[in-house]
Amino acid sequence: MTQLRATAVAHPNIALAKYWGKRPDGHNLPAVPSLSVTLAGMATTTTVSFEEGLGADHLSLNDKPVAPGRIGTILGEVRRLSGIALYARVESRNDFPTASGLASSASAFAALALAASHAAGLGLSTAALSSLARRTSVSSARSVLGGFVELRVGSPAEEFTLAAEVVAPPEHMDLRVIVGVTAEGPKEVGSSDGMRHTVATSPYFEAWTALAPGLFAEIRAAVLAGDLAALGPAAEQSALAMHASAIAARPGLIYWSGGTLEALAAVRRMREGGLAAWATIDAGPHVKVLTTSADAAEVTRRLAKAPGVLRTIHTAPGEGARIVEAP
Ligand code: PMV
Repeated sequence: MTQLRATAVAHPNIALAKYWGKRPDGHNLPAVPSLSVTLAGMATTTTVSFEEGLGADHLSLNDKPVAPGRIGTILGEVRRLSGIALYARVESRNDFPTASGLASSASAFAALALAASHAAGLGLSTAALSSLARRTSVSSARSVLGGFVELRVGSPAEEFTLAAEVVAPPEHMDLRVIVGVTAEGPKEVGSSDGMRHTVATSPYFEAWTALAPGLFAEIRAAVLAGDLAALGPAAEQSALAMHASAIAARPGLIYWSGGTLEALAAVRRMREGGLAAWATIDAGPHVKVLTTSADAAEVTRRLAKAPGVLRTIHTAPGEGARIVEAP
């Protein structure tokens, strides 16, 4: 029998226009449109093999066995589409902190969707892969694709088809994203739980959903124009407004640490000093600084000196998910 095995690599993405909150109708449909950049410089590598003799799906993350959790949604759908009745062994590795707001779920589910469907012999289109990944984690729909990527809100009728789309290829714009890592452990509240709590209890959630589409349009136009000076302030506002809606929940959901605030202050000082530097923050304490290739070294040097910043990671726009090994 041929081996039902494949290995895929995917990168995390950072949303320039944030997604926060799901629609009340349909499964895993976002309440707001989002636009991200896929980041080379950090990667998840995932191997899937469907094997005889397994009584359940098995998952290891960075060589440690963990509960399969949400991978069942993707594996179940791949089994349904391919007619393969075997359980799978899944081995996944991240070369960056896991589940701490560095978008590890995005690269993880994008790599899983591609590796599993390829191992099962399904030749899914990029759109079908993106939609499959989205049903588990909305942001992972964007990591299937490379460069600058958007995900529309869609409609309930698109529950099983809504997919991310490329806005521009990686080399379109001179952008560097310097990550200031402020913690190595997992975050306390995952993004799905955090969103649910924000939707249910934050008086600012409505304000967030009213603001987000306009910011998305502004960010999309700035990306298309390759204009970082227009993109930066809008991206920074998108992140801070998203966090403001979470902070106003009951009880308040604060993903930030002291290091986050120190890094934000450092970014403001960089701008005052004439550097191109704008901050964005996902559902975790790390600060990612948007800058140019010319300013990246100085931005990295100053970010690394901010109190509470443990280390920095240099990233640039990168490719989408791809197969690296298959029998
Ligand atoms: O789709 P999830 O569960 O990974 O949530 C992503 C939420 C943010 O990272 C905070 C924003 C975004 O658009 O990626």
